[in-house]
Amino acid sequence: MNSSDERVAKLRSRQWFGKRDRWGFGHRAWLRAEGFSEKVFEGKPVIGICNSWSELNNCNAHLRQVAEAVKRGVWAAGGFPLEFPTISLGEMLMKPTTMLYRNLMAMDVEECIRAYPLDGVVLLCGCDKTTPAQLMGAASADVPAIMVPGGPMLRGMWRGQPIGSGTDMRRFWDEVRAGRMSEEEWCEVEGCISRSAGHCTVMGTASTMACLAEALGMTLAGAADIPAADSRRLASAEESGRRIVTMALEDLRPSRILTREAFENAIRVDMAIGGSTNAIVHLVALAGRVGMDLPLSKFDEISRSTPVVANLKPSGEFLMEDFCYAGGLPAVMKEISPLLKLDALTVTGKAVGDNLANAACFNRDVIKPFAEPLKTEGGTVVLNGNLAPRGAVLKQSAASAHLLKHTGRAVVFENNEDLIARLDDPNLDVDESCVLVLKNAGPKGAPGMPEWGHLPIPAKLVKAGVRDMVRISDARISGTSFGTIVVHVTPEAAVGGPLAAVKNGDRIELNVPERRLELLIPEAELKQRLAAWRPPEPHYDRGYGKLFLEHILQADEGCDFDFLRGRTAREGGAVGSFRNPAM
Ligand code: FES
Repeated sequence: MNSSDERVAKLRSRQWFGKRDRWGFGHRAWLRAEGFSEKVFEGKPVIGICNSWSELNNCNAHLRQVAEAVKRGVWAAGGFPLEFPTISLGEMLMKPTTMLYRNLMAMDVEECIRAYPLDGVVLLCGCDKTTPAQLMGAASADVPAIMVPGGPMLRGMWRGQPIGSGTDMRRFWDEVRAGRMSEEEWCEVEGCISRSAGHCTVMGTASTMACLAEALGMTLAGAADIPAADSRRLASAEESGRRIVTMALEDLRPSRILTREAFENAIRVDMAIGGSTNAIVHLVALAGRVGMDLPLSKFDEISRSTPVVANLKPSGEFLMEDFCYAGGLPAVMKEISPLLKLDALTVTGKAVGDNLANAACFNRDVIKPFAEPLKTEGGTVVLNGNLAPRGAVLKQSAASAHLLKHTGRAVVFENNEDLIARLDDPNLDVDESCVLVLKNAGPKGAPGMPEWGHLPIPAKLVKAGVRDMVRISDARISGTSFGTIVVHVTPEAAVGGPLAAVKNGDRIELNVPERRLELLIPEAELKQRLAAWRPPEPHYDRGYGKLFLEHILQADEGCDFDFLRGRTAREGGAVGSFRNPAM
């Protein structure tokens, strides 16, 4: 047997298709119902194309075309592609929040990879949660995997003005509420803000997670930011199809790529691109899948020493399409390369530093030089204090400078219903110096930790021209959000965190330079209030919701399920054996 035969003999799929017994017959014969000849079973690596395509998820609605490009590459490299679906998490339509279902999708991905005869997997993602869910599932299954993000939409254009998803929608909505934008203009914007297939056009969560997948080494270089409608998106998918066949034969698994160095690179990149606050939750969860603790302090440490160089909304001016044309993520990584672990291994089989050899920046307005960055510190900071003993986060790159040190009177909303009912009440006792507080919007409280943290400015203040206030909650915010918004307050109110004890009129201090978030009441008073606290009624008493409530971890632990963290003790992935069940 030569070495190539040996590698083929070790493929997982040979346990299904490589046997001449009754079981091998069954596996081949039933799959031949799809019209395959016997040639496909002669030792070609079987490549699963894990597709989160769905018409309910517009961001991923083009992924069947992407899958065809992947298949071309797999066939060309001597593999045997088989596409399979998983659930898909469409950020805009799925309620109460896609975050409620991220772990469910991760389980779907993990178990499909493990249960089927796959030697390698191509992960097709796009919308916010589909990327971390696939990475988490693939990390746990630990079969060779490469990610192909779907890419961003073309930039929105309205009356000659580039507009970005989410970010500009919020800006225009405030103009509508203030009476400065007409209903007709608002309708026009609706028709031209989403001009093609693909995910949101700003450095929101989807763009951030695609960039972090690349920074982790889980995609080909340059794969994160090519627009969905650009032919190079399909060419990159085809190339990924070719590459996964070799990865399967090399047994290059996620566990060799998702190292501590890879995570440090991903955090650096997150800070340099002004990435979504959601990235912190997802990276912590992913690290947990490979048995690695990633404390919030690590994010803050890296944030302090990483400049923001990507001038993209919501932190800056430009959109993802501009980012791609300016050189994209490779150009950013080259810019901050003195800070990166350049030896970290990637899916290309080469180190990060090798992949960046040809990276270049073509537009200094979009990607700033390391020496003259957009911001001198990273996009996201981690806060601590008696209001957030286990941490909270704030995107300082998209906050108002004058509010980064601020003390104000709390205006408290007990939950989202309370917020909706009272926020725009003309009699609400609020002014622009107040701190808006939303409780019970965390992992258990909402449930699912929705993106409710971008509390709207009360209508009467919007009309008076107020555009930002300090807002605090245990919710998340969209990556497209902007403003001085503290989120992920941990522990959340619904499990008795100090946030639960805040009352109207309390004074709250936010001090970003010192990374502090304090409720300015005596310690004894805080203890007394928390002793009197009673948990809210659980939202579910059956089904997936019950499982979620019983096992969901807090934000500082990535909101994964407790039983999904860590590596599988018994081999269940790449070369695990199985006994044939009765047919
Ligand atoms: Fe899918 Fe924004 S709604 S990425």
